[in-house]
Amino acid sequence: MTTRTLHVQVPATSANLGSGFDAVGIALNYFNEIYFTEDDKEFISVEIEGLGKGEIPETFADNMVGQAMERAAAYNGESLPKGGAVKLVNRIPPGRGMGSSSSAIIGGILIGDALTGSKMSKEDMLSLATEIEGHPDNVAPALLGGLTISIMDGGKTMTNVVPVGDDLSFITVSPDVEVFTEDARAVLPKEIAYKDAVFNVSRVSFLVSSLVTKQYDRLQYGLQDKLHVPYRIGLIPGGESVLKAAEDAGALGATISGSGSTLIAFAVQNEQAIMEAMMNEFKIRGIDSEGHILKCWNEGAQILP
Ligand code: HSE
Repeated sequence: MTTRTLHVQVPATSANLGSGFDAVGIALNYFNEIYFTEDDKEFISVEIEGLGKGEIPETFADNMVGQAMERAAAYNGESLPKGGAVKLVNRIPPGRGMGSSSSAIIGGILIGDALTGSKMSKEDMLSLATEIEGHPDNVAPALLGGLTISIMDGGKTMTNVVPVGDDLSFITVSPDVEVFTEDARAVLPKEIAYKDAVFNVSRVSFLVSSLVTKQYDRLQYGLQDKLHVPYRIGLIPGGESVLKAAEDAGALGATISGSGSTLIAFAVQNEQAIMEAMMNEFKIRGIDSEGHILKCWNEGAQILP
């Protein structure tokens, strides 16, 4: 048999960016990797190395990468090879709002498509990934890279991609506290006031245009939000104080990454001090955290040679 091997790299992402709830996201230069090697067994095995081992299912049918591979194969009207080994090298912390589930979905779709004729366009992949995830703001940057602004129209997802330069840093601090997206969505109100909708329309427009025009000192306004952050920040112990510590240490602004529990700060200087100040706020509450100083990743997910 010809043995096919594939190696996929998928970036971490931060969704919402404050005011862009369920629409805006950004890819970061921090990656999960997925390997697939075809073999002559009668089943596909899954092995996890790194974060989530012991928590993430290691049976193909229950694993999110396996499920996404199956969905891509079905989309192409083909079957996956019978035997193979999937290896997940996980660095993106699961359940922390840094796109770990999107990385599994996008990685699975890329591998599933490559094994079944490479028939899917990027648009097909994006719409399928959105259908699986429920909203496009993590899967779009994971697939396409850059800053992404997405809409859903019927069953179709459309995304505009804006590259972001290395002059802007993204400091992520992930506390040792898991926030399930389901729970973070359950605390949101069913309805919002008209004036809050107007507030967010103005803020998200200001956010994207401030990034495009590199008016980074205006990001603090663009990050302001009335749709989810005020309802969710209480789910992260010390969350308010960590955001304030970031700003006091020189960040241009800070908010919740995705649905949390990671908090993300934006900066053009003092990155190390900002990260330490944020981690310290968790530490004084007895909470360990993992911090990273990252840049936007403009390439998106890739099948590596
Ligand atoms: N936009 C989503 C949310 C991202 O905030 O619920 C998390 O998956």
